[in-house]
Amino acid sequence: MKTPQQPVSSPFNAASTAMDVMAGVDLTGHLAIVTGGYSGLGRVTAVSLAAAGARVLVPARDTRKAQAALAGIPGIEIWPMDLMDAQSIQAFCSQIVRRGQPVSLLIHCAGLMASPLKRDAQGHEAQFSTNHLGHFRLTCGLWPVLTAAGSARVIAVSSRGHQLAGIDFDDIDFRHRPYDKWLAYGQSKTANVLFAVALDERGKARGVRTFSLHPGQILTDLGRHLSPEEIAAFDVFDEHGQQRIEPERGSRPWSRALRPGCGAPPAQHWTQRAVCIARIATSRR
Ligand SMILES: NC(=O)c1ccc[n+]([C@@H]2O[C@H](COP(=O)([O-])OP(=O)(O)OC[C@H]3O[C@@H](n4cnc5c(N)ncnc54)[C@H](OP(=O)(O)O)[C@@H]3O)[C@@H](O)[C@H]2O)c1
Repeated sequence: MKTPQQPVSSPFNAASTAMDVMAGVDLTGHLAIVTGGYSGLGRVTAVSLAAAGARVLVPARDTRKAQAALAGIPGIEIWPMDLMDAQSIQAFCSQIVRRGQPVSLLIHCAGLMASPLKRDAQGHEAQFSTNHLGHFRLTCGLWPVLTAAGSARVIAVSSRGHQLAGIDFDDIDFRHRPYDKWLAYGQSKTANVLFAVALDERGKARGVRTFSLHPGQILTDLGRHLSPEEIAAFDVFDEHGQQRIEPERGSRPWSRALRPGCGAPPAQHWTQRAVCIARIATSRR
């Protein structure tokens, strides 16, 4: 499936950082939820949002690791939640909905890449379960507080890895075909893009707009299941052995999406080469 894409104007370039993009953005009074907000790109995103005044909730499957990663940063709350565990997602959502504060931003940044075959309690393959199903459940559970915001934004962090595979609807969980860690990742990242397109269509009448993006290639813990040779093949290092893009810059796309005046049709899948991601902040914000 192809969706139309077009460049949009932006004052930013490849050297811009998340903090550059967030300069002058005031998110005081807004509640944001960033999955994976205690590592890599998600951490930079959570910290940037909090610095702009948002209250940021970071659901974590490893709360001790999250406490260590986010220690001393004001405006961030850590909550237990495992995207592979439907009950823990339900418990998290119930508490947030009971609390009643509208959620302005839901950023699906947690992810698993090229991991060995593992399944969740329902038998779903781990990458599909984490990257797509968990975020799908989370969005459904938070729907009352997303729609209550009036102009909420959901951002599904995908990857150019979506080009590796479509979704095999006959065998999503690799029951009948040999497990391939890259096809599994590609399938889950395609699901992120399709989810964004479909959710935007369903949510826009309620003020919930959805975006997906590819952040670029940034060396983070995402490569924990890769060999040094596999990591090197990603061209993440320059000729001096330095990372080409740090998480601070890699997180640029969805921070950009927070800025007003960055107008673009929603639910498009933007690459790092795109001039700008999308409009997230609305005229009402
Ligand atoms: N880095 C890149 O070059 C790149 C390129 C394209 C797309 N992306 C996408 O960007 C997103 C962020 O990646 P990253 O590079 O920041 O990776 P990262 O540093 O490994 O961060 C991933 C986060 O997801 C969390 N997570 C994994 N499984 C979870 C689960 N079952 N429940 C709750 N949290 C879980 C991890 O928690 P634990 O530490 O506890 O496991 C970690 O906090 C991913 O969706 C990835 O596909 C990244």
